[in-house]
Amino acid sequence: MPDDYFTVQLRKDVLDGLASAPRSLPPKWFYDAYGSELFEEITRLPEYYLTRAEQEILTQRAARIAAATRADTLVELGAGSSRKTRLLLDALTEAGTLTRYAPLDVSASALSEAGAALCRDYPALRVTATVTDFEAELALPPGDGPRLIAFLGSTIGNLDPAQRHVFFTGLRKAMAKRDTFLLGADLVKDAGVLWRAYNDSQGVTAAFNKNVLAVLNRELDADFDPDAFAHRAVWNAGQQRIEMWLRSRNAQAVKVRGLDLTLEFERGEELLTEISTKFEREALTAELARAGLRVSDWWTDAAGGFALLLAAPAAV
Ligand code: SAH
Ligand code: AVI
Repeated sequence: MPDDYFTVQLRKDVLDGLASAPRSLPPKWFYDAYGSELFEEITRLPEYYLTRAEQEILTQRAARIAAATRADTLVELGAGSSRKTRLLLDALTEAGTLTRYAPLDVSASALSEAGAALCRDYPALRVTATVTDFEAELALPPGDGPRLIAFLGSTIGNLDPAQRHVFFTGLRKAMAKRDTFLLGADLVKDAGVLWRAYNDSQGVTAAFNKNVLAVLNRELDADFDPDAFAHRAVWNAGQQRIEMWLRSRNAQAVKVRGLDLTLEFERGEELLTEISTKFEREALTAELARAGLRVSDWWTDAAGGFALLLAAPAAV
């Protein structure tokens, strides 16, 4: 990535997203050091079942995954704290195949914090972290043997169908025949359960949502007042996704000095900050097949709310 990639991309995303109707911002800008910490706090909330459900599946299946993939390199997209990943690292170490862990993330702070702990706890493992945007380019780190590419936490749900198609086809192109893909995906379920996961009683998700305004204030010299916006997360049944919005409490003008721009918000006007798509087995399997990826295994937690799937390049 060029040195100025993130600043240039942020400026472009803000200009494009805040000029469109409705206004929107890509969710990757939540994750400065504080945003990454807030996400970790979300994963421990009683209402946010996703992380625990995926952890449950990994606990049960990591040995199977290690035996099936025999990966020499574990590449992880959007790795964050790499906390659940330890289950895969342990199983692949036990299987005797793993030599390298390569986490990729936009958050440099998450990578260096997780990396330091991993180097301490896995002294024999080579850890090579990369700060990158998996939507911009997908140059997978090379491996000496089969690579397992993990994309956990249902971060795939933060992409819309068109973005997912670009992502899956780019991934397929970057994969060698012997590589495998491990994907965590949250599933469609009771709307109340979904609503509560994004409207927690302690307000951590609200703080996470508003953190994007602090990022814009710092990076683009803007003067957003986070208290002048309200957190709103809703279930969009038609598109099977939770949408997170920031709603302007009043009519207000916000200066973005770094872009020489003043944004006018009407009272009640909303800014879309994240979509979190929930999936169904058949449709997701078909989406992957359209990109040339064949699902070999599909596991869920006992409650059936979250899925972990293993896929490989389809024979042509
Ligand atoms: N995999 C972890 C973290 C999920 S949070 C888990 O399952 O708990 C989503 C992670 O993806 C964050 O660490 C965020 O910084 C990263 N991320 C979001 N968009 C990204 C992008 N476009 N490119 C690279 N990383 C991204
Ligand atoms: C990272 N991503 C999958 C989370 C999600 O559930 O969409 C981010 C998040 N947003 C609000 N709470 C958690």
